[in-house]
Amino acid sequence: MIKQAIIPLAGLGTRLLPLTSIFAKELLPINGKPGIEYILDECINAGVKEIIFIISSKKMMIKKYFYSDQFYKNIIKKKKDKRIVGEYKKILKYKNKIKFVYQNIPKGTGDAVLKAQKFIKNKYFLMLLPDDLIIKKNCSKAMINIYQKHKVSVMASMTVKKNTVSRWGIYKIKKKINRRNFLIDGVVEKPSIKKAPSNKAVIGRYILPRKIFKKIKSLKPSKGNEIHITDAIQQLINDNEKFIAHNFEGKYLDCGTMNGYINSSKEIGKL
Ligand code: G1P
Repeated sequence: MIKQAIIPLAGLGTRLLPLTSIFAKELLPINGKPGIEYILDECINAGVKEIIFIISSKKMMIKKYFYSDQFYKNIIKKKKDKRIVGEYKKILKYKNKIKFVYQNIPKGTGDAVLKAQKFIKNKYFLMLLPDDLIIKKNCSKAMINIYQKHKVSVMASMTVKKNTVSRWGIYKIKKKINRRNFLIDGVVEKPSIKKAPSNKAVIGRYILPRKIFKKIKSLKPSKGNEIHITDAIQQLINDNEKFIAHNFEGKYLDCGTMNGYINSSKEIGKL
């Protein structure tokens, strides 16, 4: 079973400036609810029991959000507001499942994953990138089902416009398993249009093997001088580790850019 998830949260969020100059992007409200809560709900509804947050000293605000017991208790003592009691209970439910580790220098997703190593107990774990919201259908749950069936790594995927390939991790299909699932031949981080092996992008949901930690340790920084999880995945594929790309059914919302962030509230408001 997949019981643990990790969420890299140490990014600076420069694509959302000025909103992120003093505020953590993952706490920004999307239709009245912090973005991170959508991600947590997806994990918990998919059966995940423990969630590891990789934050930084600059993002302590995220920890504080879940550790504001005294604040809630004081308010609830003064006025018995049902809504506030409900919100506090929800925060407590999340808090009991979250552990924190630190990545104080943002050196990329691969480096973030490595910081969570000491907590990972099982052979496989889930990773969610908080900029990527997937609504209408639980993508993590669908991926966990695929993992249960094949006992291999899984990544969420989506076909993107050819002129946007340099924004994503792009993979090449080795074999079609069925309508939504494909065995991957290789993956490359943010290629140029010329070098892209396809227009199939990796979206921020990954079921990864513990073996990946060793691969990350051997990596040198690549694109943007960062250690990319994509490069570690390619190394595992070179060693014949199987990766399945899952074309998810839900709707993708890119909350990491200003236009995408604004649009997310509109889309979720329609639900
Ligand atoms: C990250 C990954 C990339 C993936 C993307 C999905 O990029 O490195 O491979 O396609 O998430 O959103 P980032 O959004 O951090 O630039």
